[in-house]
Amino acid sequence: MADSLSPQCHSNDYQNKFDVSKYLASYYSEVTPNYVFYIRGLVRVLKEKCGSLHRTGGKALEFGGGPSLWPSFLLSQYVDSIQFCDYTGANLQAVQAWLDHSSNAHDWTTFFHYLLKENQTSESELSNWENRLRTVLSNCSLSRCDANDPKCPILSGPAAEYDIIVTCECLDVACQTRDAYKEAVKRLVRLLKPGGLLVLIAATNCSFYMVGSERFTGLPLNEQIIREALHEAEIHPHQINIESEKIGEGEDPFADYSGGMIVSAIKSN
Ligand SMILES: C[S@@+](CC[C@H](N)C(=O)[O-])C[C@H]1O[C@@H](n2cnc3c(N)ncnc32)[C@H](O)[C@@H]1O
Repeated sequence: MADSLSPQCHSNDYQNKFDVSKYLASYYSEVTPNYVFYIRGLVRVLKEKCGSLHRTGGKALEFGGGPSLWPSFLLSQYVDSIQFCDYTGANLQAVQAWLDHSSNAHDWTTFFHYLLKENQTSESELSNWENRLRTVLSNCSLSRCDANDPKCPILSGPAAEYDIIVTCECLDVACQTRDAYKEAVKRLVRLLKPGGLLVLIAATNCSFYMVGSERFTGLPLNEQIIREALHEAEIHPHQINIESEKIGEGEDPFADYSGGMIVSAIKSN
């Protein structure tokens, strides 16, 4: 990747340069083809691996959730508590605003309706599902995390804490090298209970994305790198499933991905 960009173009300064309102407006106003793929994938994986009933007392982690609530909207149907975390304080504030019914909170209705439809759940369930999401998220406090910090309180938490861990388009932008990515995957796997489910949702081959005029760099990922990372985290190859789709290759001026991947992995007992 070229390193001759201006500092503004190469900062990855999420605390100061990540404009959460612009991010939500750019990426979460409508359900674009990459989210169609991601949502379908997460619905399918959770139904397949976790059954239709939620596990009483189950706990999930959404790592690097940003200001986005769609994965937790689904997860909240399977577990009783979700530890939601992100690196950027403003993102957690945006999630808190939604939990508090604040007038400036992002309106997730379009995404939530789409998720209900994809899950073959009646639209009339919307408010029940929203209430459930608020309850389940409120059972843990929203937390800061840092995929690169050896002392990150979330990643250094007790082993075997979670039944399900989901991370969407986070590690691929938080980690700038393959070694850093592999280390973060290993640390997430440590947090899973034996038999627990890890879901990695990632853009394929994405080296940058834009939020307004700010450019954020990432680690271009492919299936092979992800399989290597999971192998090094001692996930058995038979317990890994990767679904890939080519989406919008070269068509998006705001990011250079060539597709998306839904990765599911079960930790051995
Ligand atoms: C492309 S956004 C994805 C957010 C959300 N998961 C989604 O799907 O919309 C990348 C996220 O990674 C987070 N992030 C950046 N650096 C990080 C780090 N070192 N550790 C954890 N998360 C990080 C950002 O705060 C941001 O929320």
